[in-house]
Amino acid sequence: QTSASASASALVVVGTGVAGLATALAAAPRPVLLVGGSPPGSGGCTALAQGGIAAAMADDDSAAAHARDTMVAGADHNDYDAVQYLVGNAALAVRWLQAQGIAFDHDGDRLELGREGGHGCARVVHAGGDASGHRLLLALMRAVQQAPHITWLPPSLLDAVRLRDGRVSGVGLVELATGATQELACAELVLATGGCGALFAATTNPATADGNGMALALACGARLRDTEFMQFHPTALDVARTGALPLITEALRGAGARLLDERGRALMKGRHPLGDLAPRDTVARRVWECRQAGGQVWLDARHLPGDWALRFPTVFALCLRHGIDPREQLIPVTPAAHFHMGGVAVDLEGRTDVAGLYAVGEVACNGVHGANRLASNSLLEGVVFGRRLGRHLAHVRLHVPAQGKERWVDRGVAADPPALDQLRQLAWSTLGPVRHGRRMAEAIERLGSDAAIGASWQGKLMERFLQAASRRRLSLGAHYREDAAG
Ligand code: SIN
Repeated sequence: QTSASASASALVVVGTGVAGLATALAAAPRPVLLVGGSPPGSGGCTALAQGGIAAAMADDDSAAAHARDTMVAGADHNDYDAVQYLVGNAALAVRWLQAQGIAFDHDGDRLELGREGGHGCARVVHAGGDASGHRLLLALMRAVQQAPHITWLPPSLLDAVRLRDGRVSGVGLVELATGATQELACAELVLATGGCGALFAATTNPATADGNGMALALACGARLRDTEFMQFHPTALDVARTGALPLITEALRGAGARLLDERGRALMKGRHPLGDLAPRDTVARRVWECRQAGGQVWLDARHLPGDWALRFPTVFALCLRHGIDPREQLIPVTPAAHFHMGGVAVDLEGRTDVAGLYAVGEVACNGVHGANRLASNSLLEGVVFGRRLGRHLAHVRLHVPAQGKERWVDRGVAADPPALDQLRQLAWSTLGPVRHGRRMAEAIERLGSDAAIGASWQGKLMERFLQAASRRRLSLGAHYREDAAG
């Protein structure tokens, strides 16, 4: 590795999605070194988010109602203080985003509010129709580029962490364009590296959301929490391939689209009082059951009024690209891994168990989502807890001893592409929307006996998920066991 170039008191933020950018902005005036992938702004789940940001902005809505819906969706497994903080700061987050230059969609002089699954009323603030994540990312990137306290490093990967007497004292980076390695001294490291949906055969996440942040945090000695809770989105576009599938936003169902089985019958009829807008885990399981039985599931949005190019430009373009005109044709859908409620265990300030190591956004778990995240609470989480962490770090100056026992830690060996494919299939069949103790036990055994997949960091991470899901014998939220549904 090449020589160190940052001061020992530096703050390094890794991840340039909503959580990382909000953290970096809020840390002003403290200098921040920001590390992200390539090209800036293209990767990560933030850019793909369609629905928007949940916030009680309507006259007849309240933070208490938002909190209730969040806890019901999360099967009451949520951390109550985290939920209170999230919903209590939602309106402020929307105003802060507006101050960063985001033009949310309006109906006259009022914010236009969308409806999504699990919400008792219309509560989702959006921008550019269904292009909310993309718009939000562009505005935050512009704000970061103008912020004098932030230095955006050339696109790089976080490869290793240096610990001195057990606390963070540096990072090892690999520059993507050149492969050059660099060591930076630092006092605090924030992981805002996103989730792990890409460890599943079917996912709405990009390939970079592979759990790399969790694996590195584990290597540092941090604890993981709630790893068994993976959310499956019921409506990814069924383009008959594995890997990243285009998302078909739940906001379509909020606007009146219906799920149909292959005989044209309403899929959710009689299944839940909220029907097509039931919490995501309920709808995803129903779609999964139909698909497992060999059936096709369709989303019927043909009757939606208004101009598709204005209301749902992202979904419209995605469908057309795959030869489907949603104004006239049914949209084929399938469930896909979408959001990890678990992650690196943190407190509300983003602190992990390792001094100097913080985590925020999907890589982290402060318990706010419980066993199943409420729709459009994730961009909100990134803004609210990113800003809280940034403000905390603006004032914290942890002492890094000049001398001490030093060691570098990294994730370990990575699975090669064929092995990764096998791991993703294994995750999909054993840790998907419907789980069974026997299948999970067999998968754990396979990981133990097949070094090609089991010895990789991805294999070891998956084993953690499987162990946690096996230990949780009753169904809860997104964790559903057909052998012990309760
Ligand atoms: C969607 O637009 O359906 C996804 C929103 C979310 O994941 O919260």
